[in-house]
Amino acid sequence: MQSYLVSDFLKSARLHGQFKQSIYNLSCQGNRLLSIFSRTDNRKPAMDISGMRHPYHDKNDFFLEDNIEVKEPLDLFNRWFQVVKSDTRTVEPNAMCLSTSTKDGYPTSRFVLLKGYSKDGFIFFTHYTSRKGQQLEENPKAALTFYWEHYSRSVRIEGDVEKLDIEDAEKYFKNRPYQSQIGALCSNQSFPVASRKDMEQIALRLKEKYKEGEVPRPPLWGGYIVKHHTIEFWQGQTDRIHDRIRFRRPKEDEPDGVLTHQGEDGWIYERLYP
Ligand SMILES: Cc1cc2nc3c(=O)[nH]c(=O)nc-3n(C[C@H](O)[C@H](O)[C@H](O)COP(=O)(O)O)c2cc1C
Repeated sequence: MQSYLVSDFLKSARLHGQFKQSIYNLSCQGNRLLSIFSRTDNRKPAMDISGMRHPYHDKNDFFLEDNIEVKEPLDLFNRWFQVVKSDTRTVEPNAMCLSTSTKDGYPTSRFVLLKGYSKDGFIFFTHYTSRKGQQLEENPKAALTFYWEHYSRSVRIEGDVEKLDIEDAEKYFKNRPYQSQIGALCSNQSFPVASRKDMEQIALRLKEKYKEGEVPRPPLWGGYIVKHHTIEFWQGQTDRIHDRIRFRRPKEDEPDGVLTHQGEDGWIYERLYP
């Protein structure tokens, strides 16, 4: 492993002094790497994973403007999603990374499950009092990112966030499995808890109190909708000249027919450098 090779080299240089000159001659880049490796030497090995690389789509399979079947982002998202969803290799195609930020701009990310989508936006459910919930209260904007590795495809969504109606939360909560309902009810999401045992005991008490079909929705648990104003479709290419097509609403004088193009339903689209 690279890290061991470098640290062995350093050790032997220290012991025998014979490689000192060659260390001085290393390039700046090399010196920086060496100092990183030697710094971590007496703690745990630094992992050099710079060689990890996966082939994506080849040159016969570009994501070109001409083969975008539909130039409306929700419809295109739906087409990509249906393909992934019907492929059993992707266990949770609806898992998406949700990024929110504090009002002073500090970002945080976590995965949530997409539970519905339409031209109005993308829906997920959570605790309103959680960390993400608090951030959305302060700053109701979010980004969602999907990565479907078997297809070398990613979708990035940005938009303003609104709470769903209580009725939507009720309806979805009622349809959740019993265990998930208990899980939501016993969780003070994002707050510290002393032990797993504590949570299990709360869950046990709740199970004694509420039988299947009786679990009430936690009052501060519900849905959000991310009302998209930008959606980007990314397809990885093996030559690393990846395809990126972004849909957004037009500014003045757009589309110009060169960088920006007319899509459907008031959207425009543009290609981005990868
Ligand atoms: C694949 C996956 C799906 C998840 N789905 C949800 C979800 O739909 N809602 C939710 O509240 N947490 C979900 N979680 C847990 C969150 O990632 C996170 O731990 C939790 O919501 C607390 O986040 P916060 O402290 O930033 O608010 C999921 C985690 C994973 C890995």
